[in-house]
Amino acid sequence: MQRKQAAVPSSRSLSLRAALIAALVGAIAALLLYLLLSAGDAAAAGKGAGSELSAALAATPDVARGESYYDTCQACHGRDGEGASDGTVPAIGGQHYEVLVAELVAFRHEGRRDIRMENFSDRHHLADAQAIADVAAAIAAKAGAKNPGIGDGRNVSRGAGVYVAYCSGCHGASGKGDAKRRVPRLTGQHYEYLLRQVSDLASGRRPNMKPDHAVLMPGGPMSPDAVAGISDYLSRIRR
Ligand code: HEC
Ligand code: HEC
Repeated sequence: MQRKQAAVPSSRSLSLRAALIAALVGAIAALLLYLLLSAGDAAAAGKGAGSELSAALAATPDVARGESYYDTCQACHGRDGEGASDGTVPAIGGQHYEVLVAELVAFRHEGRRDIRMENFSDRHHLADAQAIADVAAAIAAKAGAKNPGIGDGRNVSRGAGVYVAYCSGCHGASGKGDAKRRVPRLTGQHYEYLLRQVSDLASGRRPNMKPDHAVLMPGGPMSPDAVAGISDYLSRIRR
């Protein structure tokens, strides 16, 4: 008897429920609208990025012209594309040409976020797909970092094991990446930079990154020590 009474809602709780439902419907509508708009954005960005990427990959690069573009990049990335050992600026010399092209296109089309790179990879510095190809070819031919910054060594052997299990399928057993599939070379890179890319995944600064990298995110199946170990292991592999 008591149960039955409780099941009959008062008119007050009914109107409360109606208000809640209205609020929920409103929230869902807003979310759908947001998803629709951002999907539109992503599709528009993706479309521009896709055609620029194929145009740049189809171009015949001119290394000498690329060198002259590289003058503006040198201030941060260094003469040999060695970057900074504290990881603030990545080593880019000797990276696969196809990867360099893809990363530059990503910065230009919101596939990857960094205010410095968005400024320097824009149309003022690199006018078109040909310019992207030129500068990428010049960078690919550079020596890169001779002595990349490394970690503290505590988790290297653990990192090696985790790398082989989770990462080597794409980035290769020795971390040299895969030019055709545009998978970056991870060796010759500074420890601090590698580590930072991993946390940047979680903060959404690299929307282009493959979902496979989610295992590296905080709260994922890997401990912070394992993640540090992978970066340390890679930074110690000599090319
Ligand atoms: C003001 C400093 C600065 C300048 C100038 C600069 N870069 Fe960068 N570049 C950076 C930083 C910082 C990053 C790493 C961004 C991040 O954390 O995602 C980067 C990342 C990159 C990457 C991606 C590397 C990777 O391993 O994924 C490429 C490629 C690159 N820059 C090329 C260039 C080129 C080409 C130019 C000149 C047209 C240039 N950069 C000019 C600071 C600079
Ligand atoms: C499915 C293939 C695949 C797997 C598996 C994979 N990666 Fe990647 N990784 C890529 C591709 C492709 C990129 C370039 C994506 C981009 O920049 O948008 C990348 C980019 C990266 C970068 C950024 C490099 C740079 O220079 O900025 C790091 C660091 C990285 N991966 C580490 C790892 C680690 C560590 C693992 C294992 C836990 C892993 N990846 C697993 C394909 C993969």
